[in-house]
Amino acid sequence: MQKIIAGTVVLISITAVFVYGAIEIKFKEEEKYEEKKINKIIKLPEPSKKGKMSVEEAIQKRRSIRDYLDKPLTLKDISQILWAAQGITDPIRKFRAAPSAGATYPLEIYLVVKKGGVVNLSEGVYRYDPFTHSIELIKEGDFSYELYIACVNQEWVLKAPVKIVITAVYDRTTKRYGERGIRYVHMEAGHVGQNIYLQATALNLGTVAVGAFFDNMVEEIVNAKPNERALYVFPIGYRR
Ligand SMILES: Cc1cc2nc3c(=O)[nH]c(=O)nc-3n(C[C@H](O)[C@H](O)[C@H](O)COP(=O)(O)O)c2cc1C
Repeated sequence: MQKIIAGTVVLISITAVFVYGAIEIKFKEEEKYEEKKINKIIKLPEPSKKGKMSVEEAIQKRRSIRDYLDKPLTLKDISQILWAAQGITDPIRKFRAAPSAGATYPLEIYLVVKKGGVVNLSEGVYRYDPFTHSIELIKEGDFSYELYIACVNQEWVLKAPVKIVITAVYDRTTKRYGERGIRYVHMEAGHVGQNIYLQATALNLGTVAVGAFFDNMVEEIVNAKPNERALYVFPIGYRR
């Protein structure tokens, strides 16, 4: 009888350790995502709907620019570029500046801001929220060097005052279109990228599409979720 009681106690103890361990792991995982919430949200100024350069001129002038002035961008520049990338252009249906297959909007846009890279904005990693046209600080600090290393030491990534990172949450699109949704997501990143190029050109800014990078390193810099993949990096600065 004593043996049975002792055995039961040991069994209960082992089970408790496992259950507690599992709960603790789950708690730690939640905590990991919790601590990402810094709760600093910056409302961006209204983007302009009219510019000084025609779309034809912007297409003609667009070039990949890899050399930038050591001059910070303004929040107005940031507002304009993010609006061109993913801003809401139909407030009723919530459609955006770039087309999206079935309006599934699989892309996320992040900003990696260098120290002194934007007037009145501290260095850090920010996530763009198209619905409120605001950016949310998700990581404090200058991650330009880490991003430069992640982008196989491309100097323009280190030097640009601001970098846009485009990521994709594929299942938003593949759950509707299956495998074919994968190509739709990539097409969409191209649309967003071209909008960034043309808007940058119209603002006398320079940018270049960067596709050469270590995915996992870029994903870590922007705190990407497990189902989120990095697709593109766009360093941006005033052109020389
Ligand atoms: C998908 C894609 C990936 C690219 N990756 C890089 C890159 O990693 N680094 C870079 O300096 N340029 C990159 N580029 C820019 C091209 O080199 C550039 O578009 C090309 O030389 C033509 O020049 P243009 O954009 O001035 O017309 C990439 C362009 C595309 C479309």
